[in-house]
Amino acid sequence: MDELKLIEPSHGPAPTPAIEDVVPAERGTVYVETYGCQMNVSDSEVMLGVLKSAGYSAATRLEEADVVLLNTCAIREHAEDRVIGRLSQLSHLKMKRPDVVLGVCGCMAKHLSEQLLDRVPYVDLILGPDSYRDLAQMVQEARGEPALDVKLGRSETYVGLDPARSEGVNAWITVMRGCDKFCTFCIVPYVRGRERSVAAHEIVRQAEIAAQEGFQEVTLLGQTVNSYHDGETDFADLLEQVARVEGIRRIRFTSPHPSDFTPKLIETMGRDPKICPFIHLPLQSGADPVLEAMQRSYTTAEYRKLVEDLRAAIPGLSLSTDIIVGFPGETREDFDRTLDLMRGVRFDSAFMFKYSEREGTVAEREIPDTVSATEKGERLEEVITLQNGISLEVNQTYVGRTVEVLVEGPARRPGQTSGKTDTFKTIVFTGEAEPNTFVDVTVTDCTQKTLIGELA
Ligand code: 5AD
Ligand code: SF4
Repeated sequence: MDELKLIEPSHGPAPTPAIEDVVPAERGTVYVETYGCQMNVSDSEVMLGVLKSAGYSAATRLEEADVVLLNTCAIREHAEDRVIGRLSQLSHLKMKRPDVVLGVCGCMAKHLSEQLLDRVPYVDLILGPDSYRDLAQMVQEARGEPALDVKLGRSETYVGLDPARSEGVNAWITVMRGCDKFCTFCIVPYVRGRERSVAAHEIVRQAEIAAQEGFQEVTLLGQTVNSYHDGETDFADLLEQVARVEGIRRIRFTSPHPSDFTPKLIETMGRDPKICPFIHLPLQSGADPVLEAMQRSYTTAEYRKLVEDLRAAIPGLSLSTDIIVGFPGETREDFDRTLDLMRGVRFDSAFMFKYSEREGTVAEREIPDTVSATEKGERLEEVITLQNGISLEVNQTYVGRTVEVLVEGPARRPGQTSGKTDTFKTIVFTGEAEPNTFVDVTVTDCTQKTLIGELA
C-alpha cells in the first residue's frame, strides 16, 4: 500500500484524496478478451478501468497476464461454443501457470453460471454483466476458491466508474443497460436484466472526458438505446446534450428499436449535423406472422413507413439491419416476404443469422422449431446473396462523390489509409493522413464492403 497522506484542512471537512493518492501498489497485469457486441466492448473498458484504479495494469499479451478475463456473449449457441473452445485452449496456460486467475464474465457467465464449472473446472471466476463494480475484490477472492457472482442489479449502471478506453477514434458510452422487450427468440433480457438508463448528466460527463482525451466521435450504446429516459430527458434530448459537448464532432448510437423511434427523434436527427446519418435498425423478419410470433411489436407496414419518414427527414441516410432466418414456423412464403422487404428498403448492409434456439426464451419453451437445418442454411445463403448485390449497388452510388472521412489509421497496403464516412462506411484511400483527423476523400471505386478512394 502507498502511504496515504492526510492533509489537515484549516477548516471544513477533509478533501477527498485524488485517485492517484489512494491507488495501491502494482498488483499485476490483466488481459480482457472481448466477444460479442459493442456493449461488451464498452463493459470491458469499464472492467479495465476498475482494475486499473485498484492497481493492476493492462497486459499487452494474454500469455503474460496475471489475470485473464473473457467477456462473453450468449446471443447464439455458436457464440458460446467459441468461448468454450477458447477456454479449452487456455487449459494449457492454467497448467503452466496455475496462479493465473482465469475469469468468464458477461452474458454467457450469467447464462451458464455454475454449470460452467462442470464444463471448465479450472475457471476461477464467473461474473455476470452487473458484477464489475467489485471486480478487484472478486479477483482477490478467486485466488482461493472459485468465485461466482451472477446477480442482476435493477439499478446498476456503473455510474462514477470511468472506463479505460482502448485506442481508436471512437469512444463508447453506455447510456442504458438491459432490455424489457422480451422478443421471443432473445436471451438478452434474461442475461442482462431489466432496462435502466444512466443519468443524463453522467453521460454528458463521460462525453466530456472522452473529448478531453481527444475523441471526436462518441457512440451511445444500449440494447434498445432509443427507449432511453431519465426523468423528462428522452433519447432525442440526450443526443442534443451530447452534441453540445465541445470537441465532439460525430455522434452515433446503437441499437435502436423500431418501435421507439419517435417523430421528435427523427426530427432531431434531421436537424443536428453532428448526429451521423446512419441507423442500424433491426428488422428480424419481413413477414407479419413471424414478427408477431417474435413479439417485435411492429408490423412490416409500420417498419416501411418508419424507413420512409427517416429517409425524408435525414438526407443521405444509410441503413443497416439484422435478419433472422428460420425462426420457428417461418414458411417459404414468409421468407419470400423478407426478401421482398429487403429489395424494397435496400439496406446498405445487414447482419444475417440462422435462428438459434436459446434456453429459457418463449420461443424455446412454446414454439416448435419447424425449419430444418438444411432449410435454414439455404435461406441464409439466399439472404446473403441478395444483400451482397444490394450493398454493392448502394456503394456504387458513392463513386465520383467526395466524402468527409474520420481517419482510423494505415490500411493493410503501404501508402493507403482507412477510415469511416459519416454514413459508417469503411473507406480505404491512397494517401497518408493522421489518425483521428478529418479529410476529404473522392470515391473512385468500391466493393460490397468497402469504398475505395483518393485524398481530394
Ligand atoms: N438466434 C439468431 N439470432 C438472434 N439474434 C438474437 N437472438 C437470436 C437467436 N436466438 C440476433 C437478432 C438481434 C441480433 C443482435 O442478434 O437479429 O438483433
Ligand atoms: Fe433481444 Fe429484442 Fe431486447 Fe433486442 S429488443 S435485446 S432482440 S429482446
